[in-house]
Amino acid sequence: MKKRHTITAALPYANGPLHIGHLAGAYIPADIYARYLRLKGKDVAFVCGSDEHGAAIPIRAKKEGISPQKIIDKYHTIIKKSFEDFGISFDNYARTSSKTHHKMASEFFNELNTKNIFIEKESEQLYDIEENQFLADRYVEGECPKCGFEEAYGDQCESCGSSLNATDLINPKSKLSGNIPSLKKTKHWFLPLNNFEDFLNKWFLKEKKDDWKTNVLGQVKSWINEGLKPRAITRDLDWGIPVPIKEAIGKVLYVWFDAPIGYISSTIEWAERKNIDWKPYWQDPNTELVHFIGKDNIVFHCIIFPSILSASGKYILPSNVPANEFLNLEGQKISTSKNWAIWLHEYMEDFPEMQDTLRYVLTTNAPENKDNDFTWKDYQAKNNNELVAILGNFINRVVVLTHKYYNGKTPEILTLNENEKNLIDEVYSFPKKIGVSIEKFKFREAINLMIDLARLGNKYLADTEPWKVIKTDESHKVDTIMNISIQICGVLSLICEPFLPNTSKKLKNQFNIKTIKWEDINRNNPVISNKIEKSNLIFRKIEDEEIAFQLEKLNDSKQ
Ligand code: 2FM
Ligand code: ZN
Repeated sequence: MKKRHTITAALPYANGPLHIGHLAGAYIPADIYARYLRLKGKDVAFVCGSDEHGAAIPIRAKKEGISPQKIIDKYHTIIKKSFEDFGISFDNYARTSSKTHHKMASEFFNELNTKNIFIEKESEQLYDIEENQFLADRYVEGECPKCGFEEAYGDQCESCGSSLNATDLINPKSKLSGNIPSLKKTKHWFLPLNNFEDFLNKWFLKEKKDDWKTNVLGQVKSWINEGLKPRAITRDLDWGIPVPIKEAIGKVLYVWFDAPIGYISSTIEWAERKNIDWKPYWQDPNTELVHFIGKDNIVFHCIIFPSILSASGKYILPSNVPANEFLNLEGQKISTSKNWAIWLHEYMEDFPEMQDTLRYVLTTNAPENKDNDFTWKDYQAKNNNELVAILGNFINRVVVLTHKYYNGKTPEILTLNENEKNLIDEVYSFPKKIGVSIEKFKFREAINLMIDLARLGNKYLADTEPWKVIKTDESHKVDTIMNISIQICGVLSLICEPFLPNTSKKLKNQFNIKTIKWEDINRNNPVISNKIEKSNLIFRKIEDEEIAFQLEKLNDSKQ
């Protein structure tokens, strides 16, 4: 493992609130990884921020009838609050409208421009005569020339992930007026990705990337093999970071040029606050850089941004980009425009204090290797049959029995038989096994192991039946059973932290456990305290009516 870890999660566009697809795709996996590494005592910078440029913002502003500035202020606040609600533990959450970011993105452009990396070229671009506006990116939609998807944007097809130039679209239509675009000449600065093919080939094809997901590698290799084309990194828009040279007055940087640089600006803000140097987090080869994203962002993080970083020459490249596939909802693609989504701020109103339940369901059901489906029925089943019936039930039984037999004080182990010795070994093998899964970005596997430990605890109680043994317990067997069970609760309170941070906090309080380093959770260091507090149940059952209400709400609000 490297000395230092820079973890980024895709900067969400500040053009709408967050939904469960965002959490499942990038933020929960990134948060599990960051929390785990911190528990291992690693030096971590976990950064994100709102993506406040690009056509997505003025389009939303037009729809809501307010200014783009008001839009980003409004949604930045809502998004930031959702991240806090769900315990996404960013070290810094920035905004790409900040001074720091404008300066950093402009410096990047200037550096690459001075090195003559870009090509300046006049070309014909799509134009809406009625609206007096060039149509790039989300201002235009049409058929993807690669996969035939009919709602591809001018810069990208979200269905097959291909990156496009607006003029590649078949039957393009202006999103502003619905008109068929005309063509108009304009000058732009292009990043000639074709000049980076050698670099990318070497990085991807020659360097072993066995630990990368096959879906990510597959996409990237096929794009490289198809041949890369120059991509405009400037736009004729009035919303964005002005291109910092006088020949480009009135033009702004393409949002996908500036947004990934936002990871660096966010790190700079964080480092300034801590009064430390940000550079090692981006420039020291002993730093592991990991980008957490959804699959629609692969091309930008695996081809375009690495090319920009390599052109500068000072930066490290990502060690991994564990992109997730998409999460569908009740069998249909999540869609903001069709209002087919579970919005995080609404979830918080309907299920206050139940953030960990959603974190649990989205992790056990994460679209790690293929698209997956979220259904309210499955959410209910996972909550009731796993969190309540396995984890909650085990904790509750241990608390109740310890209070009943020992007044809340932990009994001592007197003797251990072979089975119990093996059981204790097994209990303390979980942190290591879970760590291995997390380090491989297999978060589903990791959380399933966590719940397996609670299963093991339940089985132990069911097998040993302390409630029967206590009646004739001259040898104090129950003392041992309860001591081991309390240790299992203690281990659970620590190892659930990356997945279920609120639950972990509650359990640590209840069992009087102090946070220790991940490696220190081992059999030589029993996780136990003298006293256990009584408390309310940590999970509650979800009733059928609550699920019926959610399904009705979803279907009724569909547009
Ligand atoms: O797809 C999106 O929502 C983009 N706003 C992600 C940007 S990630 C980055 F590179 F900043
Ligand atoms: Zn496509």
